[in-house]
Amino acid sequence: MDRYAVFGNPINHSKSPVIHRQFAQSLGEQLQYDAILAPLDGFADSWQQFVAAGGKGGNVTVPFKEQAFQLAEQLSDRAIQAGAVNTLYIDNQGKLTGDNTDGVGLVADLLRLGFVLHNSNVLLLGAGGASRGVIGPLLAAGIKKLVLANRTVSKAEAIAANFNDSVLGCGFNNIPDQAYQLVINATSSGLSGARPDINAQHLKHCLLAYDMLYGAEPTPFLHWAKAQGAQQVADGLGMLVSQAAEAFYLWRNKRPDIEPVLTLLQQQLK
Ligand code: ATR
Repeated sequence: MDRYAVFGNPINHSKSPVIHRQFAQSLGEQLQYDAILAPLDGFADSWQQFVAAGGKGGNVTVPFKEQAFQLAEQLSDRAIQAGAVNTLYIDNQGKLTGDNTDGVGLVADLLRLGFVLHNSNVLLLGAGGASRGVIGPLLAAGIKKLVLANRTVSKAEAIAANFNDSVLGCGFNNIPDQAYQLVINATSSGLSGARPDINAQHLKHCLLAYDMLYGAEPTPFLHWAKAQGAQQVADGLGMLVSQAAEAFYLWRNKRPDIEPVLTLLQQQLK
């Protein structure tokens, strides 16, 4: 049976096994999907052992996305743009290929939520690994302007420098005063019960506030955004399932329906 796995450290919390097993079951695909705890200094060895044992493809999560980027023999454009790999597979020529499906996963989820990306102004908060990979796919989806704001200004400016004039990097205190239809939190602030410290005026025209984190309760950012009048709020569970669906498609050339899996995960979180 073809083998796939998610690699991370820690890995117990990973929802990838549930997601991919459900995808496989719904599409009648015969495969095995495991969670592999790789040692912090042993990702490459773990991967090689997995391939030697018949492994065909993998998902990569914290903290190995940059190491997977280094390990891959060839990279997709979106992996290069993200500077990180979340999906690995052996291609038809036997080459280890690295891709990144986080950005397309986010875009797919925004479309699922009914948000019209075309011509919209986007405020993206955070300039770490989570935000870097989604800028290219958001631009490709037809947004007008993206403002990348970060607590540490230099990191936002450094990322923005890789893109054209439609991306502006700034700090939380000098976010341009304009109407943002979509505000995305890609900071890890919610993990410590906080939210990015931005002025409420930036949410005045917000049709959708999106947090890449998720949990049983609304994240601090979503809780706050709703109180500021954001018309719709959504957490990152849909992005998680959508990026997985894109990885599954790369491996098996079949597109899973994300709704049943999303419903299952939402029930499990309660
Ligand atoms: P990830 O891969 O999840 O993006 P990361 O690369 O460590 O993780 O980046 C974390 C991001 O969350 C950064 O943008 C960080 O801001 P700084 O660059 O200023 O450190 C941001 N962040 C973390 N906690 C935050 C908080 N309490 N308020 C605002 N931003 C925060």
